[in-house]
Amino acid sequence: MPTVELDLVERPFTERGSRLLVTAAPDGLRVARAEYETPLDATTELTALVVHDPAGRLVPVASTTPSELAFANGVSLMFADPSTLVIAGQHAHASWRLSDGTAQALALNGCHVLVGPPGGWSEQAVRTAAEARWERWFAQMPAVRPDLAERARMAWWTLAVNLLPIGGREGLVPSKYGYVGVWNWDALFHAVALRHASPALARDQVLLLLDHQLPDGQLPDVVHDQGVLAETTDLPRSDLARLTEHVGRANGTALSPSAVPVTKPPLAAWAVWKIHRSDPDLPFLASVYPKLVRAHTWWFTASDPDGDGLPEYLHPYSSGLDDSPVWDYGPRAEPPDLNSYLILQADRLADIADALGRPADAAEWRARAAAHTELLLAKRWDGTRFRTLAGGSPVPVRTVLDLMPLITGRLPRAVAAALEQELRSSHYWGEHPLPTVPFDDPAFDPDAMWRGPVWLNVNYLLIEGLHRSGFTTTATELRRRTLAMVRDAGGLYEYWNPLTGTRATHATSGFGWSAALFVDLAAQPDG
Ligand code: GLC
Repeated sequence: MPTVELDLVERPFTERGSRLLVTAAPDGLRVARAEYETPLDATTELTALVVHDPAGRLVPVASTTPSELAFANGVSLMFADPSTLVIAGQHAHASWRLSDGTAQALALNGCHVLVGPPGGWSEQAVRTAAEARWERWFAQMPAVRPDLAERARMAWWTLAVNLLPIGGREGLVPSKYGYVGVWNWDALFHAVALRHASPALARDQVLLLLDHQLPDGQLPDVVHDQGVLAETTDLPRSDLARLTEHVGRANGTALSPSAVPVTKPPLAAWAVWKIHRSDPDLPFLASVYPKLVRAHTWWFTASDPDGDGLPEYLHPYSSGLDDSPVWDYGPRAEPPDLNSYLILQADRLADIADALGRPADAAEWRARAAAHTELLLAKRWDGTRFRTLAGGSPVPVRTVLDLMPLITGRLPRAVAAALEQELRSSHYWGEHPLPTVPFDDPAFDPDAMWRGPVWLNVNYLLIEGLHRSGFTTTATELRRRTLAMVRDAGGLYEYWNPLTGTRATHATSGFGWSAALFVDLAAQPDG
């Protein structure tokens, strides 16, 4: 079976469903637990794990695959189950330190529990089960071109190990490094890839989110072990400090002291329809439809403070673009993506209503999508571009979100053509498109999160938007360049430097939606 080599730095030894991560440090291996908003230093189970041969010589790690971390003398670490890490071998010694500093040592003669509840395990049985588990998982990976296969296998492994029991279901976390929860729009992007392996698991990602819908229809930003993040009072302290630093840079506007809802862009119906297209399931559609309708309506009743029919984001996190220059003008903004997603969502609700045999509902949704498009054009298209508003007024901000109205597929030809031309201009088009802020903008920073780096969800949505708006050649070229960048950069990072196509300085690795959308893009036919 072709496998994935784990480097124990970016790619820890871990398992589907397990909180335990084994990583390498200069003094040996370290085992820590992935927990919501908790640094690994605070959850370390043991450090300095090393293996010696009978003569006392240190034995190096020879290889690490998803099923087994193997030392050069045949000693192995394996997962017996998600909470049990065993060490197995003969004629060798292992030593390590517990988190309180206590030294531990063990003469190896069989299979010993290293972390987890005490129990008797057979080395061969543990190995056979681990290999079979991974074989089954990789057998579900969609077919991709040979030059993309190695990165796709890495992505497919990432999707498995990022699955954890959260919020009553098996949820896919963005990364076991730093993002241990189920984030709203991440879950929807994850579902897009999981539908290839297990439509039930894909549906679970959406259901996990909908299970935690608030009484007024709002979907939370994050579902985590202690509950949900759905308004500013739920934010971890570290986030508040970070937000104070970057929101309102330009005019000093403070974040509101009272509770403000926090959510993510409205793409749930988009994801549901994709899952349904690959694996039709009318009972699922029927069960989610009323919840999707309430989630959609929430934007108009609770997130449109000036009541002009064009909802706004009331918090940076709700846009998903935390530190975008959009937020330099204060904590209430309307970049052109939000209303584009709502138009898209109304069209997908129409498709769902049709599938459920409700043609009157479907017609109503399509009429709403058409009217919403007219309003967006009338109020926000200035003849050359879509404007971003902050605090209700236009601001001189340019971001890749300006191009997102392409996703509706409903723009007049001249408007769509102007957006496509801008996307292909030197402002955005380079060897590694698309920067999230244009190259020539004063706010452009190739390393700073949403202020320049390339993100796969933006590229994915715009590839789809270009197709829907009839720009097949550009869509194909953007897909080709996106796949090449991820193939060549070395890992499934959170975001990439658009000048070099390499990992941006602070980007995390093993990132769920990068893995998911890479696999889904790779699995699409070459155009
Ligand atoms: C960051 C991103 C946001 C994402 C979250 C979890 O905050 O800006 O869009 O949902 O991480 O991956």
